[in-house]
Amino acid sequence: MGGNIILIIIAYFLGNFSTSYFVGKIFAQIDIREHGSGNAGSTNVLRTLGVKAAALTFLGDLIKGILAVYLGSKFGGKDLEILCAVAVVIGHNWPILLGFKGGKGIATTIGVILAIKPIIALICVSFGILVLYKFKYVSLASISAISLLPFALIGYGLQHFLFGLILALMALYRHRENIKRLLAGTERKIGKASKEI
Ligand code: G3P
Repeated sequence: MGGNIILIIIAYFLGNFSTSYFVGKIFAQIDIREHGSGNAGSTNVLRTLGVKAAALTFLGDLIKGILAVYLGSKFGGKDLEILCAVAVVIGHNWPILLGFKGGKGIATTIGVILAIKPIIALICVSFGILVLYKFKYVSLASISAISLLPFALIGYGLQHFLFGLILALMALYRHRENIKRLLAGTERKIGKASKEI
């Protein structure tokens, strides 16, 4: 029991490792949270520092999700991998080490789903890409992909459905300002970076 709690705490702190924060500091000497949308995530890195920096950010945030699930499943089993998955996303969204000002959890959520149910990750990501291609809003694509998640997981039982629902609700809550802007027609479309690294 004590060991499980320690693993969940490790997963939370793994989530605190915000790739966008380090990419901003190392490559451009900026705090990404003071630029663009203010979000610590790959979309904001894309609009602020360009494609390479955004790809690096996405990959880092994705890998920490995979790593947290791996830790949970290796040392605790199926139930713990799910708890570690939720913990790493919470750690990314609300990182104590960065004053609780984190990201919106999309790349990390994709990482955990990729590790737990790869086919579901592929389905949700493909749906998100279609939405992005059609409407050009990353936030809308993220919200759409993540909202599909609980329904895509329903075939794996109640536990997985609730797991998907928690991840989706966290993502929707973190996107609440984007949702307001989408409804008002003022959300920014995907576009060129202000400064490439
Ligand atoms: O994953 C985050 C994305 O959906 C929105 O990011 O920076 O436009 O708020 P941003």
